[in-house]
Amino acid sequence: MKFFLDTADLSEIEEAASWGALAGVTTNPSLYAKIGGKLSGFYDHMKKICDIVGDDCPVSAETVAMTREEIVREGLELAEIAPNIVVKVPTMVEGLAATRELANLGVRVNMTLCFSVPQAILAARAGARYISPFIGRFDDISEDGLEQVGNIVAALGNYDFTESTVNGEQVEVIAASVRSANHVTQCALMGADIATVPFPVLKKMIQHPLTDRGLESFMKDWQKVLGE
Ligand code: E4P
Repeated sequence: MKFFLDTADLSEIEEAASWGALAGVTTNPSLYAKIGGKLSGFYDHMKKICDIVGDDCPVSAETVAMTREEIVREGLELAEIAPNIVVKVPTMVEGLAATRELANLGVRVNMTLCFSVPQAILAARAGARYISPFIGRFDDISEDGLEQVGNIVAALGNYDFTESTVNGEQVEVIAASVRSANHVTQCALMGADIATVPFPVLKKMIQHPLTDRGLESFMKDWQKVLGE
């Protein structure tokens, strides 16, 4: 499993990148608004994220248009920002049509706001490079978001979608709307390719009380060695 950071906050991205396990970043309009982002600075901000993580790390930048023509136009503009930009497109009819066109033009797409197996299969057939099923938002309405991720991973695994994607790449499932380290555990067990996590969840993922306790006792015992 690979880990993406789900944020538009540059300091969080810099910190997570320094940990050595970051494979990408996902953003969305809400995350950009949360850091006080303005329309005029959007493209520069995305470029800064791309520069921090480097060309090998995909950075998802979301379109906000509602028609296929506008999504394609916006997607092509976003793709110009940097080679590692992935265009994020909502899972809806206009989004599917735009994804097909963008994929035909060699632009990688992350289909977002995906909540079902049929949506995921359509997204993969339309040429999406990444598909993002949301967990937490299902949980918010008292439904099982993890179950949907498991179903989507299993269903996509039954077929070969490489004829649809840019350069015949394998479509990857990004478990999104992740709210806890346990979500990450369950997604890894179900075989999700990627989890995109907010920075507070990433911090929790590295923590364990037994690690802290073990480290404390090792350090204490080492003091005895030093004082022999
Ligand atoms: C995914 O790409 C989205 O940006 C994100 O995971 C949404 O998470 P939320 O439901 O916590 O807003």
